[in-house]
Order: sequence, then structure tokens, then C-alpha cells
Amino acid sequence: MGKPNAFYELPPLPPTKRGGILQNCLLALGIVGLCKVYSAFGPIEHSPHANREVQVLADTFDWFKFLPSEKLEWVRCYQEPFQCARLEVPLDYAKPRGQKAAVALIKYPSKYPVAHEKWRGPILFNPGGPGVSGVNFVRGLGANMSKIIGDEFDMVGFDPRGIGHTTPQLVVLDTQAEVMTWSLQYPPLINSTVDALAKLHGYWKIMGELAEERQAHTAAHMSTAIVARDMLAITKAHGRDKLQYWGFSYGTVLGITYSAMFPVRVVDLENYYSGAWDNNLMDTDKALAIVLDSCAASSTCPLHEATGKLVSKRLDAILARLKTDPIPVRTSGSNYGMVDFSLARILLFLGLTEPVGAYPLIFAALAEVEKGDGDLLYAMSGVKPSSWRCECGRGEELALFPAVTLAAVACSDADLVREDLDQLKQHYANMARLSSFAEYWRIHVYCTGWKVRAVERFKGPFVGNTSFPMLFIGNTADPVTPLWSAKKMSKGFQGAVVLTQESPGHCSLAATSLCTSKYIRAYFRNGTLPAPGTVCEDEDEIFTPDNVNGVAREIGMLSAEDMVLMDAARDLSSRFRPPRLGFF
Ligand SMILES: *[C@@H]1O[C@H](CO)[C@@H](O)[C@H](O)[C@H]1NC(C)=O
Ligand SMILES: *[C@@H]1O[C@H](CO)[C@@H](O)[C@H](O)[C@H]1NC(C)=O
Ligand SMILES: *[C@@H]1O[C@H](CO)[C@@H](O)[C@H](O)[C@H]1NC(C)=O
Ligand SMILES: *[C@@H]1O[C@H](CO)[C@@H](O)[C@H](O)[C@H]1NC(C)=O
Repeated sequence: MGKPNAFYELPPLPPTKRGGILQNCLLALGIVGLCKVYSAFGPIEHSPHANREVQVLADTFDWFKFLPSEKLEWVRCYQEPFQCARLEVPLDYAKPRGQKAAVALIKYPSKYPVAHEKWRGPILFNPGGPGVSGVNFVRGLGANMSKIIGDEFDMVGFDPRGIGHTTPQLVVLDTQAEVMTWSLQYPPLINSTVDALAKLHGYWKIMGELAEERQAHTAAHMSTAIVARDMLAITKAHGRDKLQYWGFSYGTVLGITYSAMFPVRVVDLENYYSGAWDNNLMDTDKALAIVLDSCAASSTCPLHEATGKLVSKRLDAILARLKTDPIPVRTSGSNYGMVDFSLARILLFLGLTEPVGAYPLIFAALAEVEKGDGDLLYAMSGVKPSSWRCECGRGEELALFPAVTLAAVACSDADLVREDLDQLKQHYANMARLSSFAEYWRIHVYCTGWKVRAVERFKGPFVGNTSFPMLFIGNTADPVTPLWSAKKMSKGFQGAVVLTQESPGHCSLAATSLCTSKYIRAYFRNGTLPAPGTVCEDEDEIFTPDNVNGVAREIGMLSAEDMVLMDAARDLSSRFRPPRLGFF
């Protein structure tokens, strides 16, 4: 049985070379038997936690069979060579003797054991969101990360507060049925109906109340400041006092909040902590323009026209038609639905986070839509109501609604946002001047209804002299975290360097760049930073240009070491799935 993810998760992109391992984390339930195989490795005692905690994702590892501990006690988990641990920390660091939380950790271990002279400690990762599991991230990408950075390090992922396997978990909607019912009522894109924004405002008002009534205690302990303290606790539990860290997207909020040594992808923290969320889309249209130009340069592009402008015109015509004439689709007996304007626009927006993997398929599907056939686009949307069966109890699965975990972190971090509908309309009118994709960026509305406040909030200033200068990595056409913020945030940190990668997509990993990979490796291994102003090219093409130039030749000239690095970088970027929670 599938998780009921159709309506509140972003539609999974089609299985291409980017068919991602992270997506596989949404595994079906029903593989419960496999848990037993692994129980032999942990201190086996039933945890005193409530039932619902044991119902987490149908993983092949049962986290709650062993108890959390103040020292790291690693047990084997999932497949070789992963190890997992549950680190006990104070729920509220101001009350060290009070209630406890247990942070779920996974590591892809170094080739060298912990005491070995060549062992260089853990590198912690955060994949963004907020609200995304770092355990799943390292489980999916740890091997590739290790190849790029070096096997002297442990690659360590952790689930932030309230999220994934970390306890207590935030569960606002109690049952699958409640999740599904709520999901079905989720309002459409802001501009698609006259009352969409009003509905979204109302929806999050109710959600904010539910969270306060049902999970205030957990939600109050999920702020970035608290997670930063957890990172320190994890570092200390490894017997070290300096953090080594790599964060993506929101992960840079966390990293900067911690203020230590790490290469990152950056959002504008002042904007984040204000709860405004109104300048993320600065480069979105730029990313789309790159896709359109790539299409114009390639006769293999399904919507090929002589210029990017003409491709855009053709695309607009397809969308305009969908706005008035949505296409009903039946792909099999019980699999049916509508391909409409919102669905197409959502896919276009999501595709911008990983254009190389997504756009060839999106454009192929839209070329079919142009001919009146919506099957392919519908298949890509991942909306399959018929695959969901309601067990209608608490017993089968933790009822998760990912946008709530995002709200619990982002909105309890933020200044209180109390806007009425008119103010919200103004907010979105202003944003629409920045990007034609304004109507997808709805996080700000979540915060208008959020009521729970975090017990600890960090309010800046976002400056500091870190023990080692930070490396910020920004790419030139990131649809949701513009390069501008990397430049802005780096100014607060002495010696920090911004490495610019010429590529579209969300985070540098959305594209393969040997050049960037080498700088990352040198940074972690040798502590060397690129010269200020360094720019790296990427190696990818969205649509293969008719006019192929030096790419093949260049690869022929790579050294054996670079070849290994390039392979790992390519695997990493093709398996990297940018967190998508924020898009709904
Ligand atoms: C909604 O559509 C109107 C009319 O096309 C446009 O002026 C406005 O900027 C759009 N708003 C958003 C948030 O995209
Ligand atoms: C960082 O160090 C410089 C030079 O030592 C100093 O001028 C500056 O005030 C320091 N900044 C912070 C935030 O401590
Ligand atoms: C690190 O420094 C050593 C010695 O200078 C050099 O041989 C090596 O190539 C450097 N490694 C990286 C990844 O830059
Ligand atoms: C990347 O990771 C995957 C999964 O662990 C692995 O199968 C693949 O070989 C790795 N790629 C490289 C180049 O190490």
C-alpha cells in the first residue's frame, strides 16, 4: 500500500536517470517482516514509547527496538555499511534535567575506525526543507558523498526535531483518513480561482489551531536554534568540539545559525527569520529562461522552436488552452483524473529544481498535451487516488502531513505573521513582480495561521568569526534560493568565500560539476578555499545541443582520479532530489 502522498507531497518526477533513491524513502508499507532481520544487532528491548512511534515508515530497520543513550551506541541498520544510533538530548536545553528527546542518526562510516590516526571525524548533513529527514538523505547519498569528500570522514545524517525517526515526532493529523481528507481539500494555486488565496489562508488558520491543540509541546521544541544545539551535542558525542557540516537550502539557515565550518547553499536568513519568504524566487524565471534557450538550441527538444522566446510562446499557448480546456484522463480501469492548468504549472515549477533530469520529460508530455493527449503528463504527476486504501485507524502508519513539519520549524522560528487577507493579497502582488512563479511559493501563508512559539529562537545577528572560514556555494539560476543571498550572507563571516556555479536547478548538486566537486574536496580535506570570485561551469545539458562542442573531448582528458570524482559527482547529482516540501 502506498503512502497517501498524492496530494500533499510533490508529485514524484518520472523515473529517469534521476529516479532518486530519496524518493524510495517513501517506500510502501508492508515490508514489516524485514525489520526482524536487523533486530539481532541492537540491544533489544521494547521502547516505552507510545504505539504510534513504532509505526514509522516501512523501513527495513526498526528504530524503536533500541533505547536512546547519551553516548553514541551504533548498531548496524539498513544495508551494509550503514550504522544507526539514537542520541539522547534534553528536549529543552534550558532544562537539562527535564524531559528528553532522542535524535536519530545514521552514518556511512569512514574506512578508518574512530580512534585511527587517519580518521577525521564526522561530517554532518542537512538536506533542507525544513522538515526533511537527514537520515534518509545520507542513506541515499552517503556513499557518493564519501567518494567526493574522502573516506577519512564519517558521513553522518540526523533527523531534526519532530521529524523522521527523531522523537518526539510531530503528528498533527491523527489518522491516514484525516490526512487524506485534508489533502483533498488543499486549495489550488493562488491565482487559479478567485478564492484560492482566501482558502489557503483559512486552511492554515485551521492547521495552526490543530497543531496548537494537539502537538504544542512537540512543535515548541523544533526550532532551528534547538537543532543547532543538537548538532553540537552530536559533535561532542563524537569526542570532537568543532563541527564539520554541509547543508543545502534551509540547511544553510541551520549552518549559519550554528556558524561554523561548512560549504553551503544559502537562503537569505533575515528574510527567513522574518517569516516573509518573499525573495526566494528572484532567479526562478532565469532558470526557466535557461531551459527555454536549451530547447531552442536542440532539435531533439519536443517543443523545439528557433528561439527561446518562441518556445516560451508555444508553452504559453499550451497552458492557456489547459486553463479553459482541462483534459480528462483514464490510464486504466480505476486510475483517472484531470490534467489541468495547475497540474502543468506545478510540474514546470518543480522541474526547475532539477531541470536536467526533469525537463526532457516534461516537455515531451506537454507536446502530447498540445495534441490533446494528457496521459503522459498525468502519469508524471504521481496523482493516483486509486492506489490509496484507507486502513482508517492509527495502527498502520504514522499519519504525516509534511507541510506541517515545515511550518512547525519555519513558522515557530519566524516573527509572528499576522496578516489579514488584504495584506496577503498585497504580499503576493508584490511577489508577482519578482517572479511569474509567485503563486507557487505559499510558505508565507502557512505562517499566518501558526500559533505555537518555539521555546528557544535565534534572532541573529548573522555574523561571526568562525574557527575556520566558511565556503558558500551558490548557483546562478536557482529557482528558490538565489545567488544573491549567498553573497549577502557570506559578508557576515570573516574570510568566507562564495563559489559560484554556472547552472540552473535547486542547489549546486542539481547539476554535475567536476570543478565544484574538486573545491569541495579540497575544502574538507585540506582546508583550502577557492579564490574569491571563482566560477565553476557544470557538465550538463538539458537538451543535447545540435551543435556539440568540447564536452566529450574534455572528458577524454580527465586523469584517473578526476574520473572517479566525476563519476561520483554525476551519481550524486542524478540521485540528489532537492527537498520539495516548501512548494505546496
Ligand atoms: C495573478 O494573476 C494576475 C492577472 O494575470 C496577475 O496580475 C498577478 O500578478 C498574479 N498573481 C500572482 C501571485 O501570480
Ligand atoms: C571578527 O574579527 C575581526 C578582526 O579580528 C573583527 O574586527 C570583527 O569585529 C570580528 N567579528 C565578530 C562578529 O566577532
Ligand atoms: C591537498 O594538499 C596536498 C598537499 O599539498 C595535495 O597533494 C593534494 O592534492 C590536496 N588535495 C586536494 C583535494 O586538494
Ligand atoms: C553512488 O551511490 C550508489 C548507492 O550507494 C552506488 O550504487 C554508486 O556506485 C555510487 N557511485 C559511485 C561513483 O561511487
